[in-house]
Amino acid sequence: MSEKRRILVTGGAGFIGSHTVVQLIEAGFDVHVVDDLSNAHSHVMDAIARITGVHPGFSCFDLCDSEKTKKLFADIKPDAVIHFAAKKLVGESVQNPLMYYKTNLQSLVNVVEASLEHGCQKLVFSSSCTVYGQPDQNPVGEDAPLKKPESPYGNTKRICEEILQDTVKAHSLQVVSLRYFNPVGAHASALIGEYPLGAPSNLMPVLTQTAIGKRSGFSIFGSDYNTPDGTCIRDYIHVVDLANAHVAAIQLLLNREKSSVFLVYNIGTGSGVSVKEMVESFERINGLKLNYEYAPRRTGDVEQVWANNVLALQELGWKPHLGLDEMVASAWKWEQHLNKYEKSIHQS
Ligand code: WQD
Repeated sequence: MSEKRRILVTGGAGFIGSHTVVQLIEAGFDVHVVDDLSNAHSHVMDAIARITGVHPGFSCFDLCDSEKTKKLFADIKPDAVIHFAAKKLVGESVQNPLMYYKTNLQSLVNVVEASLEHGCQKLVFSSSCTVYGQPDQNPVGEDAPLKKPESPYGNTKRICEEILQDTVKAHSLQVVSLRYFNPVGAHASALIGEYPLGAPSNLMPVLTQTAIGKRSGFSIFGSDYNTPDGTCIRDYIHVVDLANAHVAAIQLLLNREKSSVFLVYNIGTGSGVSVKEMVESFERINGLKLNYEYAPRRTGDVEQVWANNVLALQELGWKPHLGLDEMVASAWKWEQHLNKYEKSIHQS
């Protein structure tokens, strides 16, 4: 029986990270998570163990600490790294750009330096469709011109890709950058899901929190866009499909020869869904009515963006399987589970 390949997952207690850890374990990998829990909960590791029967290795510290990062690599000697750890709130990044540039760039540099120092030459990077800004055409391909992202958060993603591209040219490093579209939904077990700290700004948790009564209602930002129903269009992708794209990227890297490379893939369904369509799907599938009103456009929103995902389909051998119905059903099931869990904590 060959030794299991070990994957280090930074930010592995987060929304996408935790779902990816589950899929990696189920694909037969040995996983070690490092997370500073600044935007995640320690109970997520127990939930992963309940789902998979395996409790991944766990280290808790800030990856901006270079010495601790290098010691981690020396201790666990990963075969590959998936780097999720980053601050990711668009609004917060506008309020506090320096914290975003310092945290997101320093942590990436530390991870890459430690990787190179300890002979780990394979890295999957968590990037974002936000690097496209408002694309000139949809579906948007990986070769589309990158535009100045709407927020410092988005700009850190773009700069991190540039750091990786330059590093690949100077060192023996193989990188896959996955540009996510809009991750939504939750694992079918409802034991892990999106767990926003504080009031969420992104659509799906706003819907689920309205449905459960954590908020009295919400606004649909803008109904006068140049789209069929006037509301913005996005490419929503189920977080489990997104997690599987990371497993596919790791397998691609582990099967590659040594030569340095920087590969980019759009990870979306390839279909656009409007805000109104998402709201109506949520109501229909979950058998409930949501309280909302139309409000003016939200500053910084792009009107419409959805993925050309053909490269990922062809080169990663990956494809999305879970549709809109599963996205809204699993998100709602998770919110109901979370609500019970939070109530049990408050009662204890
Ligand atoms: C989606 C649509 C809103 C809330 C963000 C990040 C991006 C990426 C994906 C990480 C928009 C509308 C929302 C509400 C609404 N993240 N909306 N009422 O802005 O497309 O992208 O997530 O990589 O970097 O910016 O996602 O969910 O915030 O908005 O009408 O209460 O829902 O206006 O049209 P977004 P979102």
